Amino acid sequence: MNTRAYSIDATDIAAEWARVGENNMDAFDASRVLKMDTLELPELGPGDVKIRLLAFSLEHNLDHAVLADTVNIAELRGGKIYPGNSAVGEVIEVGDGVSRFSKGDIVVTHCLGDADKWGYPTRIWAYDKPDSIGWYSEEAVVGDWQILPAPIDCGLSLWEIAALPLRAPTAYLLWRRGHDIFRVKVDREKVARLNVMGFGGGVSELFLMLAHHEGHRAFLCSGSPERRAALEEQGIETIDQKKFNRFASKEDVKAFNAEVKSRTGGVGMHVVCDMLRGPVFPAGIAALSRCGVNVSAGWQLSKKINYDSAAMSVKQLTIDHTHYDTIVGCEASTELYGSVFRPAIHKEVYDFADLPRALKEMHDNIQTGIPIVRVAKDLPASVAGIA
Ligand SMILES: NC(=O)c1ccc[n+]([C@@H]2O[C@H](COP(=O)([O-])OP(=O)(O)OC[C@H]3O[C@@H](n4cnc5c(N)ncnc54)[C@H](OP(=O)(O)O)[C@@H]3O)[C@@H](O)[C@H]2O)c1
Repeated sequence: MNTRAYSIDATDIAAEWARVGENNMDAFDASRVLKMDTLELPELGPGDVKIRLLAFSLEHNLDHAVLADTVNIAELRGGKIYPGNSAVGEVIEVGDGVSRFSKGDIVVTHCLGDADKWGYPTRIWAYDKPDSIGWYSEEAVVGDWQILPAPIDCGLSLWEIAALPLRAPTAYLLWRRGHDIFRVKVDREKVARLNVMGFGGGVSELFLMLAHHEGHRAFLCSGSPERRAALEEQGIETIDQKKFNRFASKEDVKAFNAEVKSRTGGVGMHVVCDMLRGPVFPAGIAALSRCGVNVSAGWQLSKKINYDSAAMSVKQLTIDHTHYDTIVGCEASTELYGSVFRPAIHKEVYDFADLPRALKEMHDNIQTGIPIVRVAKDLPASVAGIA
């Protein structure tokens, strides 16, 4: 059976870069690369589940895949990929060997492709896992190990739930690691309330919600007034990143550091989440307190960082790298939907056909929150009330 699904072809990426010229990213038209396609679904195996996609969130890995700006993942995967690894769906058929799910269940996906012996991902589904087919589609066949029950009674809307399957587990691991590494160095007896900062972006926002819920002072440093306002409503303090020109110069970083120190009684941030790197990285390091921890699972603005090792030693700083969470961590993070994770989503829920426009608007950074696409026109009764 065929389904409509978006794909990215390496030939189209090369043609679009040739059309606009190498240094002309603003003219790059994602809709010439991200195209509605037809996909033949595999036969349902005994351990498989067929889902009807209800909604999904746009992830930044889509932008990276379309632009080929970090790696050319479509080319590396043999020329073409079907992206999409964060979704909510309705189970419409289950294989003979599946006992965890039944027809009508509402589920969220996780994007772990392969794992190491400790359960950490080595490959991400619909990205670098060979032959993996993503879920920016109307229907999909998944292994039963790839889905988790969606907590539809958690108080979030269906669109808010769709914002979380990829970003929430990432934030959950970043927070555990950042917090626990700091505690290796400075225990609770000495400092009860930590200063925690994240730079703009959905993952950082969720990371800050975790810190805030555990009683710490949380700060979002973002250039978006709407995203700052949404987090302020939850008790998270904010810093306008544009006031510091997004750290274009050393003077901007210095002024930012002065603001951080004045807002924290001279202490600085004990834990910083930086998913962006590039000019954000030195600002995040400057803002750290003694024994501070800088955690990251992203490289949106740059893949490379460099730092002064001597200065890091003297201040006893740690830079930690994480990635997507384990499946166990993904499952645990769904327990926090609604109670801790209350994502700010973009004001428009896009139609399925509008995915290329949604991607362009994500790239242009003009959305007011995490972008969501509605796939199914008719929703099952179980979630119609939360749409
Ligand atoms: N390893 C993993 O498992 C994993 C998981 C999720 C995401 N990621 C990666 O992490 C990165 C962030 O993802 P996300 O989902 O949090 O992003 P997101 O929700 O799409 O948000 C992106 C943010 O980027 C910021 N931004 C855009 N242009 C900027 C610039 N020139 N300078 C400073 N900030 C800028 C914006 O912050 P403002 O609010 O300041 O405008 C925006 O909110 C992406 O590269 C993504 O691929 C990795």
